[in-house]
Amino acid sequence: MTTKPPHGLGRNAANYGDRDFALYLRRSFAASMGYSRTMLEKPVVGIADTASDYNNCHRSVPELVEAVKRGVLAAGALPLAFPTVSLCEPSLTPTSMHYRNLMALDTEAMLSAQPMDAAVLIGGCDKTVPAQLMAAASADVPSVMLVTGPMLAQRFEGERLAACTDCRRYWARYRAGDVTRERIGEIEGKLATTSGTCGVMGTASTMACIAATLGFMPLMAASAPAVHSDRLRMAEEAGALAVRLITHPVKPSQLITGKSVENALRVLLALGGSTNALVHLAAIAGRAGVKVDLKRLDALSEETPVLVDLKPTGEGYMEDFHAAGGMVALLRELRDLLHLDTIDLYGQTLAEQIDAGTPFVDRTYIRARNAPVSPVGGLVSLFGSLAPDGAILKRSAATPALFETEARCLVFDGLEDLANRIDDETLDVTPQDILILKNAGPLTPAGMPEAGYLPIPKKLARHGVKDMVRMSDCRMSGTAFGTIVLHIAPEAAAGGPLALVETGDRVRLSVKERRLDLLVEEAELARRRAAWQPPQKPKRGWDKLMFEQVLQAPEGADLAFLRPEGE
Ligand code: FES
Repeated sequence: MTTKPPHGLGRNAANYGDRDFALYLRRSFAASMGYSRTMLEKPVVGIADTASDYNNCHRSVPELVEAVKRGVLAAGALPLAFPTVSLCEPSLTPTSMHYRNLMALDTEAMLSAQPMDAAVLIGGCDKTVPAQLMAAASADVPSVMLVTGPMLAQRFEGERLAACTDCRRYWARYRAGDVTRERIGEIEGKLATTSGTCGVMGTASTMACIAATLGFMPLMAASAPAVHSDRLRMAEEAGALAVRLITHPVKPSQLITGKSVENALRVLLALGGSTNALVHLAAIAGRAGVKVDLKRLDALSEETPVLVDLKPTGEGYMEDFHAAGGMVALLRELRDLLHLDTIDLYGQTLAEQIDAGTPFVDRTYIRARNAPVSPVGGLVSLFGSLAPDGAILKRSAATPALFETEARCLVFDGLEDLANRIDDETLDVTPQDILILKNAGPLTPAGMPEAGYLPIPKKLARHGVKDMVRMSDCRMSGTAFGTIVLHIAPEAAAGGPLALVETGDRVRLSVKERRLDLLVEEAELARRRAAWQPPQKPKRGWDKLMFEQVLQAPEGADLAFLRPEGE
């Protein structure tokens, strides 16, 4: 007689040394919640519920959980929601990035430890989707990704506003003295007026599109607005799909492959998407043993046009992208550049998914290949004596006239130094200088914040200076713009060459040659290296674990011991 493998509540029994007793106890406690024996014998779909009063982007999660449950029940399984860490971009100090790996660790542990046959992961805000996909990759439990969806833009005095590009745009105008204190206060209440994630092609939206490209959700589910009834129908479908995965399993390890990751890089480039997505994709792929190679990214960028015209670099909002045909229309346009034999959770190939979509496209927001927003991709990688392991520039958000710059640099030693001096009227700075921020990478207590968008010094902003070359070892919000070099690796706190740069040094950026160089004699650098002091190790808790284990940006700033090669 063959014994059926455990399913539903029978999975992952607690360890009392008596499996039958463990299951007896589990069922009796579960029965206390009012479930019938019939329900307790069904297969189980776990639902990662990330509702939190601290997470405005997840305001709609409770009704999504209800809709997922409907889908699960109608398909014949038992839905069990469970809480995990939930991260909202502006609500955390030092930054939500510092806790992405904690959310991934928490979610992976709960996916692996609790009894479930499949899962629905409800995410949305910037770090939640990467954390959940990292967790799914490591736990390798069949998982559907459901995002909360983007907010709608607000109509206000003849223009449309949505977080967070318009937040930055108005704040820059306020700093430059164009907008009064009263006006900026009035606009504060108009920037995020519905539930959902930022309404532009920032990190959250880019990651939703990447999750769909990897196959973790139906293509159109990446962009349906948070408040649209389609979003709830998609949640119902996510529940039903999770039940389907119990009998037709497709595991994360089948979705995250070299080919699907390359497709995701193409999509990132064609979207003109967030630079943060590159770090997150490297972390997700790394969990599945797939490396994101910055040189390969650069090669793909040369042959992948930017086709999507959305803020922060273009004109539209996420609701426009969705109405224009969304991911189906974009992938159809990219078709000959993609690996079409990757699969989704239904087991459909990418070609089949594209063919099954509606043929409509609105060319205002999703351009044809022969009339792109830009003939080349949005990101380039840079290497050189200042960034031996690489750095990134979002050229689609940068000023082409600054692409070839050799100049004196003005260095800020960390975030506090930046805050203390950037607006000092006596600051020795000209519009031609390069601003450099160091000690803000993954190893620092700052936790690789989105501080790479160094503000233009007020004394220059007042005179109309809108962009300068800026460089750092930290990140930039996906909703920001400017000639900004990010993710310099190794970071300053790890003793990379960035640690040795001093105000007055000459630095050279060449986008044409993909170079980033520090023009200082080797003997002088050796002198500075000998005097360099490593940062102090945090004494306890999460900060200590991060310091001891966090990898550099090209490896996704993941924890070394959670990667396959670190196990
Ligand atoms: Fe949550 Fe922008 S703050 S997506």
